[in-house]
Amino acid sequence: MAILNIRKYGDDILRKRCRPVEEITPRILTLLDDMKETLIDSNGVGLAAPQVGVLKRIVIVDNGEELLELINPEIIATEGEQEEIEACLSCPGQWGMVKRPAKVTVKALDRRGIEKKYTGTGLTARCFCHELDHLDGVLYIDKAERMLDPDEVETGD
Ligand code: CO
Repeated sequence: MAILNIRKYGDDILRKRCRPVEEITPRILTLLDDMKETLIDSNGVGLAAPQVGVLKRIVIVDNGEELLELINPEIIATEGEQEEIEACLSCPGQWGMVKRPAKVTVKALDRRGIEKKYTGTGLTARCFCHELDHLDGVLYIDKAERMLDPDEVETGD
């Protein structure tokens, strides 16, 4: 496994649309492993493939219990609304208030190519939306109601 370089705001690749994964090859499996290691190393809750320079529809989400590997993920249901602080590994030192659904269900393929459904609330729901946006070149700062000053952000979040 390897820790991958995380692309930062200003890198054009973060603004591109990602292509679906057609076949789960050994390269894709290695990418999943490397993305998980990179996410753990960076203390993030989610990572999308374009953030490591790969324009494929793959994200990793830490739901607090496990690292979900989502291949070709799609949001299939949402419920309610929440507005919370969001940040992004590609935009270090920035935070913003973003409105998201309170509850989100996604479907995605797992590494064996089996379709799974996952439902998340709170942080996990936000993370599903945030990471899936990355696959279409959308960053949370595009959607933020307002950006926060560093002194408005509680440390340890
Ligand atoms: Co992000």
